[in-house]
Amino acid sequence: MRAFGFKEINGEIVELERPVPEPLVGEVLIRVSHAGLNFAEVQHRRGDFGEPEPDGDVPGLEAAGVIAAVGAEVDGFDIGDEVTAYLPNFGGYAEYAVAPAAFTYPIGDLDPVIAAGAPTVLTTAYGLLAGTGRLASGDTVLIHAAAGGVGTVAVQIAKALGAGQIIGTVSTADKAEYAQQFGYDEVILRTGFAERVRELTSGRGVDLVLDSVGGETRADSLEVLAVFGRLAAFGDAGNYPDLTLAVRPLWKSNKFVGGFNIGDLARRAPELVSKFGRAALDLVAAKQVRIDVTDVLPLPEAGVALDRLAAGTNRGKLVLAL
Ligand SMILES: NC(=O)c1ccc[n+]([C@@H]2O[C@H](COP(=O)([O-])OP(=O)(O)OC[C@H]3O[C@@H](n4cnc5c(N)ncnc54)[C@H](OP(=O)(O)O)[C@@H]3O)[C@@H](O)[C@H]2O)c1
Repeated sequence: MRAFGFKEINGEIVELERPVPEPLVGEVLIRVSHAGLNFAEVQHRRGDFGEPEPDGDVPGLEAAGVIAAVGAEVDGFDIGDEVTAYLPNFGGYAEYAVAPAAFTYPIGDLDPVIAAGAPTVLTTAYGLLAGTGRLASGDTVLIHAAAGGVGTVAVQIAKALGAGQIIGTVSTADKAEYAQQFGYDEVILRTGFAERVRELTSGRGVDLVLDSVGGETRADSLEVLAVFGRLAAFGDAGNYPDLTLAVRPLWKSNKFVGGFNIGDLARRAPELVSKFGRAALDLVAAKQVRIDVTDVLPLPEAGVALDRLAAGTNRGKLVLAL
């Protein structure tokens, strides 16, 4: 089958010839029609997940298509079903991909283009808010990278779960304008955000920060946490050195620091991946959450799409079509 991937860290995305994978126990095989792109693939290519296999790595954390085969001990799916899936072991940039049935969802009325961009950002955003973030009704939320794939759905899910004021940060005025349509009360520039957040919350600060940027943004986010405020770290888009945090200042100021990682969840609590994914997809079906696919590129242009993500110029979701 045709697949696209890289053979060395920071290498070109090239066509790789791969056998069609076989679904193991509890898995389904999907004939992929569309694959969603995620920043994790930028990290994958830049080596954050280690060296690629000698014959290359095929990235891709999510794909939509039609079930082509069903592994043993899988109930509820048949060949021909239209589905979308979170792929914990990558492999979405290919004609066929295997997915755990537990992370595979019927797409219902959803356009496969949209469905392809759904499982990873939805599960992540829902898990960040309801899991790590322990979002409570009326909570004030600050979301960094507000115009991105996770940022555009996180604000909508937060509203659906009862959040109060939601503030987003972005790198440019254009992105601020774009992100506003998803329901943010304010979208501000990340430069100097802490002072502006204090103004916007009348000095109180926020109950929850979703931070995928890291570095100074993470350090400054700690400064704008209200009493019992939570900082949920879940990415390192800026590729900054990690922070070293002392615990004493946290207990002296009633703050929490936590993390969210969908891969760890898939290994240690797969039932939560299914639960968060389903709950968020229900919000999409109920039209409370909208996924904005801003561009669809043919699979051979996967490298172009990844370069866009790496440069931080994307908005919403990018999708590859096969
Ligand atoms: N832990 C998990 O389980 C998990 C799962 C999914 C995603 N994530 C993380 O969540 C974040 C969002 O993922 P996504 O796929 O939806 O990506 P995205 O938000 O669409 O794109 C990443 C965004 O990060 C911001 N950014 C800040 N510094 C950057 C830099 N130096 N280079 C490039 N971008 C930079 C940019 O927004 P601005 O222009 O506003 O700065 C950019 O648009 C990513 O960091 C990803 O790693 C984590």
